[in-house]
Amino acid sequence: MLQKNLKLNLLYHELKSPLVVVETGVTSLLSRSSLYGSLSEKQEKVLRRIQRNARTAQLLVNDMLELGCVQKGIIREIPIKASSIISEVLEQVFDLTNHNLSTKIKNVIDLTRFQSILAEDGIIVSTSLEIWEKEFYLDKRKIKQIIRNLMLNAIKHMKNSIEITIKEKNSSFMFSVQDDGMGISPKYHKKIFEAYFQMDKTEENNERGHGLGLAGALILVEEMGGELLLESDVGKGAKFIVLLPMPEKINEG
Ligand SMILES: Nc1ncnc2c1ncn2[C@@H]1O[C@H](COP(=O)(O)OP(=O)(O)O)[C@@H](O)[C@H]1O
Ligand SMILES: [Mg+2]
Repeated sequence: MLQKNLKLNLLYHELKSPLVVVETGVTSLLSRSSLYGSLSEKQEKVLRRIQRNARTAQLLVNDMLELGCVQKGIIREIPIKASSIISEVLEQVFDLTNHNLSTKIKNVIDLTRFQSILAEDGIIVSTSLEIWEKEFYLDKRKIKQIIRNLMLNAIKHMKNSIEITIKEKNSSFMFSVQDDGMGISPKYHKKIFEAYFQMDKTEENNERGHGLGLAGALILVEEMGGELLLESDVGKGAKFIVLLPMPEKINEG
C-alpha cells in the first residue's frame, strides 16, 4: 500500500515538469507576438484553452501531491493573514475562470477596495477588518487548496452571485461560500464528497473536474481536525462551510 502511494507521488511529481513546459510555452506564444508573430483570433482562442487546461492540470497535480503530504503527516502551520489566504486563492481561481477580474484584484489587499472590485462581478466578501488583518495558525497550502476547490465549484454553478464569509467562531476559523445556483438535493449531500462522484457529468464539466475536489477538501479538513458542512436544496443554491479549530499558540519556555 505504502509502496503504491510512493509510486503515485513520484508520478505526480514527474508530471510537474512537462506541465510547466506546456504552460510557459503557450503563455510565451500568447504574450510575445513581437518574437513569434501575431496570432489570428482562432489561434489565440485555441492557445487560451490549452493554457487554461495546462493550469488546471497543474493545480490537480499540486492537489494530489498535497494529499500525499497529508497522508505522510507533514504539517506546516505558520501564522497567516486571512487577507493573504483569500486574495491569493481568488486571484488563482479567477485566473482560470475570469482572467480580467484576476488582473484587477492582483496585489489589492485593502479590504474595501477588494470588496468593491469583486462586487462588480457579483462576488460578495463578508468579513470585518479585524478578521481580514488577523493572523491564523493554519497550513497555508492546505487551506488554499480547500478554498480553491469550493470556489471553483461555486463559480461553476453560480447564476448571478456568490457570497464568501470569513469569521472567527468559537476560536475556530470559519470560511463559507454560498452560490445561487441549482443547489444539491439532500439525497446527494453525502455522495458528492465521495471521490469521482459527479452529479452533472457533462463534456464541459470534465474539462475542469474529475469529482476529486470535494473528496480532497474533506480529507484535508478532517486532517486539520475541522468540519466541512453543506447547506443546500434543489433550486436553493449551495453553501459550503469550513470550520477549522485554531491550534493553541505554543508557549515558549
Ligand atoms: N456549488 C455547487 N452547486 C451544485 N453542485 C455542486 C456544487 N459543488 C459541487 N457540486 C456537485 O458535487 C460534485 C462533486 O464536486 P467535486 O468533487 O468538486 O467534483 P467536480 O467539480 O470535479 O465535478 C459535482 O460534480 C457537482 O455535481
Ligand atoms: Mg470541483
